[in-house]
Amino acid sequence: MSRIPLPTASISRNALKALLKQKTILAALEVFHAELGDVFQIPLPGFNPIMLAGPEANRFVLAEHRDALRWRSDQDPIVRLLRHGVLVEDGDSHDYLRRQMNPALHRNRLPDYVTLMRECADFILAQWDASVPLNVSIEIRRMALLVLTRTLFGVDFEPEMKRLWQPILRTLRYISPGLWVIWPNIPRPGYQRAFRRLDEYFYQLIAYRRANPSSNEDLLSLLITSRMSDDLIRDQLLTMIIAGHDTSTALLSWALYLLACHPDIQAKAQAEISGVLGSNPPHYSYLSELQYLDQVINETLRLYPPIHAGLRIAATDLEFGEYCIPEGTRVMYSIYLTHRDARYWPDPSAFRPERFASTTRTPYVFLPFGGGPRNCIGMAFAQVEAKVILARILQKFELNSTGKPVRSFMGATLEPRPAVWLTLKKRN
Ligand code: HEM
Repeated sequence: MSRIPLPTASISRNALKALLKQKTILAALEVFHAELGDVFQIPLPGFNPIMLAGPEANRFVLAEHRDALRWRSDQDPIVRLLRHGVLVEDGDSHDYLRRQMNPALHRNRLPDYVTLMRECADFILAQWDASVPLNVSIEIRRMALLVLTRTLFGVDFEPEMKRLWQPILRTLRYISPGLWVIWPNIPRPGYQRAFRRLDEYFYQLIAYRRANPSSNEDLLSLLITSRMSDDLIRDQLLTMIIAGHDTSTALLSWALYLLACHPDIQAKAQAEISGVLGSNPPHYSYLSELQYLDQVINETLRLYPPIHAGLRIAATDLEFGEYCIPEGTRVMYSIYLTHRDARYWPDPSAFRPERFASTTRTPYVFLPFGGGPRNCIGMAFAQVEAKVILARILQKFELNSTGKPVRSFMGATLEPRPAVWLTLKKRN
């Protein structure tokens, strides 16, 4: 067995330079990857995960050794927050929760969801003022929150938006990487009020639906009829609102930013939408014809995967190729590094949707939604949501860059910071 490669002093210096220049830790990881290969260890005090990249490593983590690589680590903020949400459970408990929730995210629910998604998008778009620059990051988050709660919880979130906006952002900050990564028990005051606000909302929602059963087959009804306790239902609702809206917000913010920076690509996507939909609202049966838009979405997910890596813990000693991964080690599979590897993606940092025109691809080199039995439960939902919202925006507006730069920020998701600002021109 070989020793897992560690960065030398000179590699670490280069990584630090890249980090300072590009203002993102991902730049440092790219230096480590280029110098050390698909397996390396990050030598932080208190947090020294083994980083894996590339198709073999992704398959190893997501499919071949799924049961020996557990998700849950009780001291992590996301576990403290989500308690027993499907995202943070392992084994039978995970599989049980996933089975209960699957029907609400099944493809056969999507045609109905498309109508609701379009209504939510139109509600927000009717408020866009083309005479002033727009903070698209905020607008898209509002849209994503309306879509998720309307489709899966069967409620209109608009009356709660103002009151719960800060608690949601605060909660996202709580689970974002920070000092707790290297200092797990660091005191973290100032979050309890936000958590209480969200809990009050969820427990009221559950109580109301128990008292007023709905014929809707939405996720909330499914969870209630499956006889879960209020606490367990709260855990799933919070999981879905966090995992299901922040990721879509990141994807759509990046997509709009990239479309504004590449007018030729925007014009091509817009022409396709005009050809397929005219001025009719997006309808489920036409979405599959928006193939170029699909390519734009995939290319955005490749360059800026909202979940840039997955974190696991080895439940037993494992062997990956010539390396031993001892029990208890943190293991990360890097979606970001895999997506930017020139061996699989020529000219990897270029935004080139056409590279997705061909559908033949090595398995596990494009994995924005993870893979294996615990891939993203909301994958089909998110793909349709992105298409509906982008199609609707491009039907109504031309997007122009304001020239304000953004950088990749590792929050709860990989998002454009400080925010995407665009100027808009209304289309006739
Ligand atoms: C662009 C949008 C999205 C992206 C890029 C994304 C990405 C991912 C990835 C990479 C994973 C696997 C993480 C791992 O292996 O540790 C995951 C899991 C998950 N996602 Fe998504 N996601 C998106 C949207 C959604 C939506 C809309 C929902 C809910 C409606 C959702 C709910 C979940 C849940 C519950 C899991 C955990 C699944 C399990 O462990 O069985 N996601 N997502």
